[in-house]
Amino acid sequence: MCGIVGYIGKKPIVPLLLNGLQTLEYRGYDSAGIAWLGPENDLCMFKKEGKLSNLRSHVDALHFHNDDAVEYRGIAHTRWATHGSPTDENAHPHTSADGNIVLIHNGIIENYTELRDELKAKGYSFKSSTDTETIVLLLEDILKTETNFLKALQRLTSRLVGAYALGIMDKRQMGKLYGVRNFAPLVLGVGDGEMFLASDSVAIVEHTNEVVFLKDGQIVELTATGYHIEDFAGKQVITDSETIAASQMILDKKGFRHFMLKEIYDQPDVIRRLLSEHLKGDTDPVSILDKPALALFKNPKRIVIVGCGSSLNAGLVGKYFMEAVARIDVNVESAGEYRYRDTLVDEDTIIIAISQSGETADTLTAIRQCKEKGAKVVTVTNRVDSTMARESDAVVNVHAGLEVSVCATKSFVAQVVVLYLLGLQVAEDRGTLKANELENLKHQLKQLPTQIETMLANTDTVHTVAKKYGSKENMLFIGRSMNYPTAMEGALKLKEVSYIHAEGYSASELKHGPIAMLDQDMPIVAVLTPGPLYEKMISSCQEAKARDAQVIAIHAGPVQQEAADTFDDIITVPTTHEWLSPVVAVVPMQFLAYYIAEHLGKDVDQPRNLAKSVTVE
Ligand code: F6R
Repeated sequence: MCGIVGYIGKKPIVPLLLNGLQTLEYRGYDSAGIAWLGPENDLCMFKKEGKLSNLRSHVDALHFHNDDAVEYRGIAHTRWATHGSPTDENAHPHTSADGNIVLIHNGIIENYTELRDELKAKGYSFKSSTDTETIVLLLEDILKTETNFLKALQRLTSRLVGAYALGIMDKRQMGKLYGVRNFAPLVLGVGDGEMFLASDSVAIVEHTNEVVFLKDGQIVELTATGYHIEDFAGKQVITDSETIAASQMILDKKGFRHFMLKEIYDQPDVIRRLLSEHLKGDTDPVSILDKPALALFKNPKRIVIVGCGSSLNAGLVGKYFMEAVARIDVNVESAGEYRYRDTLVDEDTIIIAISQSGETADTLTAIRQCKEKGAKVVTVTNRVDSTMARESDAVVNVHAGLEVSVCATKSFVAQVVVLYLLGLQVAEDRGTLKANELENLKHQLKQLPTQIETMLANTDTVHTVAKKYGSKENMLFIGRSMNYPTAMEGALKLKEVSYIHAEGYSASELKHGPIAMLDQDMPIVAVLTPGPLYEKMISSCQEAKARDAQVIAIHAGPVQQEAADTFDDIITVPTTHEWLSPVVAVVPMQFLAYYIAEHLGKDVDQPRNLAKSVTVE
């Protein structure tokens, strides 16, 4: 969602802040802004709607250069609109009426209407339609009766309801920069005679990998040489910095046209990495969980998987698999729904939180609530430095590498493979699978990278299918069993990047409503892999065909002659174990979405309205 970068030090401030924003660009935004203060304390501030390049070319035209060896401080922001459309006026930073305070904000202030009315009644006027402007004007108002800036920030936080990470400068607080965190990520970077502030360490890791992850309810005061943290009650918090790995953060398309395409091609290596780390030979035990984490799965009353979007779809594959191999009852819940339910979670519950970013607001809140009720939380994430990872009892790294395209591809596949490994390890521990079944699954898991590579080597058919159906306005994706979630994932991919309306269903649901939609303008993508429900899938396809729908089969192995007439197009995928088939079946769906989006000229890596990390509700 929104991005924050802040700096205090002697480096050229404008390129530093803009380059920081550029590293956050992939996460999705609709406008950007920058502000800095130099030795004369003159505020330079620029805001532009649209791409960061708009802001960059505007600022570049000024030919601004720092005075050598002089300290500057500045803040910059990419905005993903929540209140007010993406215009220059609504872009951050926002300033106080007296021009002293400059502020950027990630998150949502839920009581902003009430605060706005209160401030208006006091004579303040608003230049934007954002919730953020209420924060800066409220702070200005508080500072009329509170001269201590940290105390003023504490009073400010006591009035704000919602999620927020703030970056603040005040002309009167010379040489200082402030950060505030409440349910939105904020990290500070420690340099040599310079300090950084960011909503994600990605934005600052080029300069320092010594960081402090602020906790909710904390305020930081930065100078070029140090930091001072207090909680919202004014109590000092002593926190040492930690060192994070810098290597994951490199943004490189490696010659591919888009990150999404590169990330689809990364998938065999992602799976190989996971398997080489956690599954040596076919008869060796799986080691995805360490001993204490594995012990949690010995006899839980219930397991609940929570996640959103693609992570939720991965969770559903995990549920089917874990139930099948480990014989444990597993529920899967959309985190945004779960957090508002009066759930039966207790100390005998294991929560498996799945999140690529580890920062998704709904999933994070769900796990916090479950922890409060005594549950143990295992987080499966691509970001072991994330808030979710830091707040969990155990963390499993999916090791997918930085996923830059907003549309999740390799992280989905990595999550599914992690859930396979987790299921197998728990099955091994509980003795719920026969040795030969275990060995067979492990053996077939190991074939997946090479099988995916054969698909990556020849994408002609899926390319042709994409061209043929790319101008349709609707598409239906169907599957059964473990490929029901795959169908939902295929539909989600298509929606996200091509904006074509698509829905994923269990084929069993077709007759309960969606079949009414079928005609020559509603193609169906059907996943057919070997297993007890294969014939049922064929019947569903025939029923669709009888309603004039064109049927695109994603089919494992060769198609029998009698079934072939049912399909208008066939995309062949390698044959694997029924339970592992989602990993191969999803790949052509990712390509289908990618090629259609590219064909339609869409912004593949940064689809409209979407953000990579959804840090607000
Ligand atoms: C889909 C997609 C989103 C995310 C969802 C959860 O391509 O990217 O649906 O899967 O926002 O995000 P994480 O996994 O970061 O919690």
